[in-house]
Amino acid sequence: MKNTHHDIPPALAQALRQARRVVVFTGAGVSAESGIATFRDALTGLWSRFDAQALATPEAFAADPDIVWGWYEWRRAQVLRAAPNAAHRAIADLARHVPELAVITQNVDDLHERAGSPCVTHLHGSLHAPRCSRCASPQAFAVDVPDEPEAGRRITPPACTACGAPVRPGVVWFGESLPAQAWNDALRAAQGCDLLFSIGTSSLVYPAAELPRLALAGGATVVQVNPAATPLDAQAHHNLRGAAADVMPCLLASAGFGEDS
Ligand code: OAD
Repeated sequence: MKNTHHDIPPALAQALRQARRVVVFTGAGVSAESGIATFRDALTGLWSRFDAQALATPEAFAADPDIVWGWYEWRRAQVLRAAPNAAHRAIADLARHVPELAVITQNVDDLHERAGSPCVTHLHGSLHAPRCSRCASPQAFAVDVPDEPEAGRRITPPACTACGAPVRPGVVWFGESLPAQAWNDALRAAQGCDLLFSIGTSSLVYPAAELPRLALAGGATVVQVNPAATPLDAQAHHNLRGAAADVMPCLLASAGFGEDS
């Protein structure tokens, strides 16, 4: 599919060519073109069809584990059927062209990894890392690829192989803290980078949304890729208006990092 051409400012192409330590910080928008619903996009967002804020909580899981587990198995089935898009591939390709690249995502899908990004920091956990809701021991899925449960179907979570308690999704729920190691790695990368891309995030959820601001405070160039405005617009040095799958390949090409280079 031909990418829509995006005019990349020459200063940005130059900054990318010269960058030594780059951070790519992503949100649900980077997976939108893989068919994975974002959270807040009005028409298709997960939240337009479910009260995700009610489902994605420890209280909801304690009250009704089957509806919460069913919802996440529906999302996992979607992710397993999805493919990485040109944005994920361009981000994976970028690692070949810059000395240091940190990919930090709020997403719980594994599309960055499947596109070839070697080391991805998941600030909000992963759909592919279930654990016991009581003893926290890592668990395996009973079925590798759940049949496509219609959204909203109840599925009883498996029992922990160690203590028998219900297995929960390995994602961060509202009111829970981020994985300490992931957050520390993200802080260090953002504070020490010279170029940060914030791609496909509404920049509304903290502490993750703090990362671009920490990069700015450290003197980095901050670039936002999003078809819509976000609170980061006012502080970003460059706001590239467009879909990540279109903009990212153009960005690499503008720096001479095209696919054949
Ligand atoms: P949101 O759904 O809040 O925001 C998605 C962003 O992607 C919006 O700004 C869209 O404009 C943008 N977008 C849509 N299509 C795009 C495309 N093709 N290319 C680029 N951008 C596009 O998702 P997040 O910002 O990731 O937290 O949400 C942050 C957190 O809120 C999530 O990680 C989740 C939720 O609560 C937890 O689960 C803990």
